[in-house]
Amino acid sequence: MLCLPLKALLENTLGVLKESFFAFALAGLFPPFACPMDKLVIKGGARLHGEVEISGAKNAALPIMVASLLTSGESVIKRVPDLADVKTMGKLLENLGAAFHYESGTAMIRTERINKHTAPYELVKTMRASVLVIGPLLARTGRAKVSLPGGCAIGARPINLHLMGLKKMGAEITLEEGYVVARAKRLRGAVIYFDIPTVTGTENLMMAASLAAGTTIIENAAKEPEVIDLANALNTMGAKVRGAGESTVEIVGVDSLRPLSYCVIPDRVETGTFMTIAGITGGDILIKNCRAEHNDALITKLKEAGIITGQENSTTVRLKGPRRPSGHDIKTMPYPGFPTDMQAQFMALMSIATGTSIIRETIFENRFMHVAELKRMGADIDIEGSTATVRGVSKLKGADVMATDLRASASLIVAGLVAEGKTTIHRLYHLDRGYERIDEKLRGLGAAVERLRDGR
Ligand code: EPZ
Repeated sequence: MLCLPLKALLENTLGVLKESFFAFALAGLFPPFACPMDKLVIKGGARLHGEVEISGAKNAALPIMVASLLTSGESVIKRVPDLADVKTMGKLLENLGAAFHYESGTAMIRTERINKHTAPYELVKTMRASVLVIGPLLARTGRAKVSLPGGCAIGARPINLHLMGLKKMGAEITLEEGYVVARAKRLRGAVIYFDIPTVTGTENLMMAASLAAGTTIIENAAKEPEVIDLANALNTMGAKVRGAGESTVEIVGVDSLRPLSYCVIPDRVETGTFMTIAGITGGDILIKNCRAEHNDALITKLKEAGIITGQENSTTVRLKGPRRPSGHDIKTMPYPGFPTDMQAQFMALMSIATGTSIIRETIFENRFMHVAELKRMGADIDIEGSTATVRGVSKLKGADVMATDLRASASLIVAGLVAEGKTTIHRLYHLDRGYERIDEKLRGLGAAVERLRDGR
C-alpha cells in the first residue's frame, strides 16, 4: 500500500471532502454559504424595537431573472436578495449558457449564448421556481427540457396549468422520464383560462407570450404584486403586457426584446414576518423600504388582533405590539386575500393570543407542518383537514424544533422570540432560501439570536 506522508494524506482527504461539499452545494442540495446542520438559537422574551430594512422580493426576483432569457445581452437587476434560491436560479441560468454574476444585491446576467435547453432534476428538485424557464426557453429557442418539480413539503404542486397554456400557444409537449420536453417553432397568441389563479403559471405564460406571434389573453390570472413586478420588468424590455394585477392580462407579442435594467419590489412576506414579530413580542418596530399596501389583508388582521400600525410614509410602516394579541380567524386566499405565505407566522402569533382562532389553509394541501413543532413549544392546536383550531395559551416554552419548509421556519422564529427560555431551530437551510440575513436583522432589533455553524 503506497504510504503517503500523513500531511499529504490529510490534505488529500480534506480536498475530497471540500469538493464533495461544494458538489452538493452546486447541485443546489444546500446553499454553499449554509450547512444543513446550521441552527438558530433564540433566547426568547425581548420586546423588539428599532428599525429593520426589507430586502428585495424573492418571488419577484426569481421570475425577473428568468425574463433575461427572452433577450440577448446583459441584463442588470437590482435589489435581488442574497438567498439560496437566487444562487440556485443563477446556476440554472448558467446551465443554459448564460453568464451570471451577483454582487451586493445586483444580479448581472449575460444571455448572448443560450445554447442549452435542459433544467436538470438536481436543481429543479431543490427549487420549484425552476419551472419558470419553460416558457422563456420555448419563446427564445423553440426547445425546453425541464424536470418535473415533483412534490414538495407543502403539497403536490403540479404544473398542469402551465403546460395547458403552452399547448394552447402551439407547443408540443411530452413527458419523458420525469422531464417535460417542449418544442415550438414559434408560439402563437391564444386565450387561456386558469381554473386556479396560479402565480408562476401566470408568470410563465406572460413571458412566453411576450415573444409569441399575436395576442394572448390570460383569464383568471394571479394578481400578486410579484406578477405585476414581472409585467413591469417585461414592459421595460419592450414587451406589451397590459392588465397585470387584474383577472385578465393581455400580452401583445413582439419580435424581440431588449435587455433588462430593473429594480425589484420589496419582499412582502419578509415585511409581514417582521410585522408579526412586532405583534408577538409587544415591540415597537419601524419597517423601512417596504410597500405596506402589499400587506393590506395581513394588516387588517393584525389591527383586529390589537397591533397598532401607522404608515410613516410610502415606504415605512411602524408597528407596536400589545401586551397580548387577541385571537382572530383567517382563511388563506389568492391575492389580495390573506397570503398563504403568512399563514404559519400568523398561527404562531395566534398561539399566544387570548381566545381561540380558526385558521383555514385553502391554497396548499400540506401547509401545517409547523403545527407539530409549535405544539412542542406548548401551543394548543388541533388540525382537522385544512383547518387548524388554535387555542391561545399564556406562554410558550423554548425547545429544540425542526424547520420543515421556508415559511414554517419563519413561524418557529416568531414563536421562539416570545417563548420562555431557549429555542433551537434545526435545518436552517430552509430559512436561508427566503430570508436574507434574518439573524443579523433580528439582532439589530434587540433579539438574542445566534446562528451556530455546522456541528457547533
Ligand atoms: C407561488 O408558488 C410562490 N412561489 C409561493 O411562495 C406561494 O406560496 C404561491 O405562489 C401561492 O401564493 C413563487 O412565486 C416562486 P401557485 P406557485 O401556482 O406559483 C395549484 C414561498 O414560500 N396549481 O399559485 O407554485 C397549486 O398546487 C413560496 O415563497 C395547480 O393545480 O403557486 C396550488 O394549490 C411557497 N396546477 C395552487 O394552484 C398548476 O399548474 C396555487 O399554486 C399550478 C398550480
